Amino acid sequence: MTFEEMWADLAPIGRSSDSGGYFRQPWASAETELRTWFAGAAEARGLRVETDPLGNQVAWWDVGSGPAVLTGSHLDSVLDGGAYDGPLGVVSGLAAIDELRSRGVVPSRPVGVSVFAEEEGSRFGLACLGSRLATGTLDWDTARELRDRNGVFLPDALAAAGLGSSVPGPWSELASVGCFVELHVEQGRDLVDRGAAVGVASGIWPHGRYRFDFAGEANHAGTTVMADRRDPMLTYAMTALAANKQARLADVRATFGRVQVTPNGTNAVPSAVAAWLDARADTGAALEELVSAVTRQARDRAERDGTSLSVTAESVSDLVSFDADLAARLAADHAVGDWPVIPTAAGHDAGILSAAGIPTAMLFVRNPTGISHSPAEEATMADCLVGVSALADTLERLAS
Ligand code: GLV
Ligand code: MN
Ligand code: MN
Repeated sequence: MTFEEMWADLAPIGRSSDSGGYFRQPWASAETELRTWFAGAAEARGLRVETDPLGNQVAWWDVGSGPAVLTGSHLDSVLDGGAYDGPLGVVSGLAAIDELRSRGVVPSRPVGVSVFAEEEGSRFGLACLGSRLATGTLDWDTARELRDRNGVFLPDALAAAGLGSSVPGPWSELASVGCFVELHVEQGRDLVDRGAAVGVASGIWPHGRYRFDFAGEANHAGTTVMADRRDPMLTYAMTALAANKQARLADVRATFGRVQVTPNGTNAVPSAVAAWLDARADTGAALEELVSAVTRQARDRAERDGTSLSVTAESVSDLVSFDADLAARLAADHAVGDWPVIPTAAGHDAGILSAAGIPTAMLFVRNPTGISHSPAEEATMADCLVGVSALADTLERLAS
């Protein structure tokens, strides 16, 4: 099956007929269908498929010996996401193996294609849940307490998807991995501006998700005079403005993309607002400064509004600097010239594997819209195929 055929197979799975975007939340039907598809596509190539209790998968091309070269990405999406974030790296991994075989390359090291579960944290709030558990960066005692928006505990979600029959944890399949390469659609305009179809990542900005719980007093929207209110929506609204201003001033990123209002009625002052801050900066110190400045301003405002605030860090990822020598080696000496080496403010499983001590690199494929985490995310078929060849070249370099 060619890249185009595999891509066409995946296109309808989890696609919204309203927006054209994707809802591929982990351990729900579309994502389960994708996992089954991956196992079938791998087995059709004679690859050996291993799955852990969480649904992380790796398809092994059992050639050569010694430390393995692993590629891959994820198949889950954000809510109403694009087609490429995740699946591009998985499908490209399978297609790169096809390309190596058709080039007659026999790697001297085993090569694997992996799929990590819940990379986006769209269901359980913790980004890269699958790779964190598989590398032992996160322990099961913490993970088992996670609940989704409907109150479903992670172990129950796994059971409903036919997984989790043994305790998820550090995954033995990663023990033999000597290096990891994740190919990913670019999530900005850097490659468009540089006129390059592919690039190599230098590192990932520190980033985190913080839950802001504002509590006030529910009351009648008509009879409660303005001065008597303790309205958590006001405190939240001011906090969102403060976060935006703070991020602009420091040239970093702050987003409130998710809000939950209780009881969410039109004619009542709400009793509570939960809002999630996604914050990102180029250094750990700048990230800390951003979050503490927003928190400070939110607390000041809460005092004036007669509301209360508690802040919980739900998912924090430190700065990742990919192996500079490896990035330089992968970027240099191509028929088209060197590939640009660029940083990203998006999180990836590659960052988790790198932090766990596995030499890691990333390849990016140009995204003409520069938009991601949206149905408008794009990559041309021509660039996707350049990406497959770039990945095949990279695997050949690493596995020879
Ligand atoms: C994942 O794509 C993230 O950066 O949140
Ligand atoms: Mn993403
Ligand atoms: Mn991704």
